[in-house]
Parts: sequence; C-alpha cells; structure tokens
Amino acid sequence: MRIAVAALVLASLSGPALAQGDVIAQRKDIMKGVGGATRDPGRMLRGEPFDIAKVKAALAVYADSAAKMSGLYPAGSETGGETTASPKIWQAKADFDARFAKFGADAKAAAAAITDEASFKAEMPKVLQNCGACHEVYRIEKK
Ligand code: HEC
Repeated sequence: MRIAVAALVLASLSGPALAQGDVIAQRKDIMKGVGGATRDPGRMLRGEPFDIAKVKAALAVYADSAAKMSGLYPAGSETGGETTASPKIWQAKADFDARFAKFGADAKAAAAAITDEASFKAEMPKVLQNCGACHEVYRIEKK
C-alpha cells in the first residue's frame, strides 16, 4: 500500500510523459468498465433471464462513461500505454466527440424507453450499435 501511494505521488510529480500515461490508463479503464457492463445485457439478448435493474445499471455506466471519454484524448496522448486508439481520433475529433455524445444520448433514451423484456430487445441493440460503429473507425487492433 505505501509503495503504491509513493508511486502515485511520484507519478503526479514527474511531468507530461506520465501524465499522458494516466489519461490513456483512465480511458482504457473506462472502456473496460463499458465492456464489463455489457456482459449481462449481452447474455439477456441471447436468451438469459431479463433483469431490468442490471440493464439500467449498464445504461447508467454507458451514459456516465460517454460523458467522460471525450476529455481523455488530449493532444500528445496519441501513443503509449498500449492504447488501441486510432490516430484518426485526432484528425476528426469533432466526429469522435459527437459519437460519444450520441452513445450517451442513446443510452439515456433507452433507459427511459425500456420497461420490459420486449422494449429491451427493441431498444438495446440500437445502443450497442454505437460500440462497433465507433471501434471500426477509431480503434486499431493491438499489434
Ligand atoms: C465513440 C467511440 C466509442 C464507443 C461508442 C465505444 N467505444 Fe469502446 N473504445 C473506443 C476507443 C477509442 C477505444 C481504445 C481506447 C484506448 O486504448 O485509448 C475503445 C476500447 C474499448 C475496449 C478495450 C479497453 C481496453 O483497453 O482494455 C473495450 C472492451 C470496449 N472499447 C468496449 C466497448 C463497448 C462494449 C461499447 C458499447 C457498449 C463501446 N466500447 C463503445 C471507442 C468507443
């Protein structure tokens, strides 16, 4: 624990390179959270028992994450930290940000529209389309 705290303090003192590493780690963590949140609704779409609380929890993670993500791609964080972010993000930042705004808005709309299993099956895929659509353009395969 002490060592971890000391490392954190050091990281915060030692300049831009590590600060960028932090931003990359943060956005990867947020996306991992989005991926994790998708597991339960994904299973429900494949026929596991519907649980509206889990669906709403996932949608809340999406909305929260979408609001945070745009700010985590500052100039200078294009590479490093095993990022899979594509350089295209920095060439089309407005489009990239707009996609996160849409993802967040779709998650909120779905949270309002989903009241039962039928509405879940109709609305959830619309939200999940955002994942692949964005990754296709703005995420590179890990080498
Ligand atoms: C508007 C763009 C966008 C949307 C929408 C989006 N992602 Fe991502 N995702 C990214 C980018 C960019 C990365 C690469 C992050 C990095 O390495 O900096 C990523 C990375 C990931 C990762 C890997 C995280 C890691 O590094 O371990 C997972 C898992 C993931 N996304 C899941 C999802 C899921 C599931 C959804 C939909 C529910 C989703 N994403 C929606 C842009 C998006």
